[in-house]
Amino acid sequence: MATPEKVLITDGREIGVAQRSGQAPVLLEFPAWLAKFEPQIPLTPLVEQINNIYHSFDATIYDREHPEIHELLPSIWAEMISILPPRTGWRVLDFGCGTGFESIQLLRALSDRVRKLVCYDPSKEMLGQCRSQLRGVPAALFSSRFEELENLGPFDLLLTNSLLHHLPEIRRTMDSLLPILTSDSIWLAGHEPSARFYRNDRCVRFLGQFAQHHKWSRFFKGKSYISKLRNTFRPNPVHATAEAAFRRGLFKKKPSSLIIARIVDFHVPHSVDEVADGRGFDFEQMRVDFAKDWQLSWVKTYSFLGPFKPSDAPKRWLRRSHELAERYPNDGANFCAVWFRGRFKIESQTA
Ligand SMILES: C[S@@+](CC[C@H](N)C(=O)[O-])C[C@H]1O[C@@H](n2cnc3c(N)ncnc32)[C@H](O)[C@@H]1O
Repeated sequence: MATPEKVLITDGREIGVAQRSGQAPVLLEFPAWLAKFEPQIPLTPLVEQINNIYHSFDATIYDREHPEIHELLPSIWAEMISILPPRTGWRVLDFGCGTGFESIQLLRALSDRVRKLVCYDPSKEMLGQCRSQLRGVPAALFSSRFEELENLGPFDLLLTNSLLHHLPEIRRTMDSLLPILTSDSIWLAGHEPSARFYRNDRCVRFLGQFAQHHKWSRFFKGKSYISKLRNTFRPNPVHATAEAAFRRGLFKKKPSSLIIARIVDFHVPHSVDEVADGRGFDFEQMRVDFAKDWQLSWVKTYSFLGPFKPSDAPKRWLRRSHELAERYPNDGANFCAVWFRGRFKIESQTA
């Protein structure tokens, strides 16, 4: 790894670091919230490495710690899968498969029509969980090496779930998959954060009111003390990642757990300000950005309670969140989308 020499510029938003990388110095640029920890490698590999370290610690607890995936998504995945044309012999790439959630949804719905299912994840630990979940599935192959995918393709169905927001350069990563996808392939893209929620005043106001209610109801039920106590004894992947990243020399100053969480969830917005700063996706913008290669054919937004799960909310709050969803169907805090490549196209449903 190259050794940074000195800080060159700090202008409030960005910082540049001159780095000796053989001969010529390289200018590194970081957002201000990250720059103060003096990262020692460029942003793209930094985000990728931090994700890798984080998911190595998260793998064994991922399913337990993300109940929202299992609560919200199976029915939406069933809906997306029902859009697929009635082909047989699908050759599937599950990219960023994690513990295997989206592969399991697909196999549940149409296992007899899947000829090949390649589960790829750069995290060996996540891939190990996926392998054990899909044990006994004859069509399934597993890889944590991107270079291997070329020999395992081509694919006509791409699955991603809760992936894009971890990618430092989304276009670059998605473009790198194009050569191994057929010209009529379909991409089912589940569970990404939507900036549209925080741009909608009504959604933001509702979230503020619900967060307040949630805080007080936890206080009165004593749940906050119990969960604080429980958290003290739980493994904490964010904390472990901060330690490991600092030890490996990725930062000159040890980053806080909050900073690690922001790097891991690189595009997830948590507030109006973060959206104004450019975090989060807007499917309308993505439709334009991806137009050359992908047509957005279907989209569904949900999570009108923002980061809270429906099971966190009493009935009357749920009712209000459903009213918001009816009024602003495109502005939920998360979205799933179906993309068609090339000439293939179905009638748009909610898009
Ligand atoms: C939030 S998990 C989602 C896992 C699974 N898709 C699911 O929904 O349960 C994100 C996954 O993306 C993987 N990931 C992170 N960066 C990646 C990258 N640059 N390319 C491919 N996968 C990546 C992680 O290792 C992790 O398994």
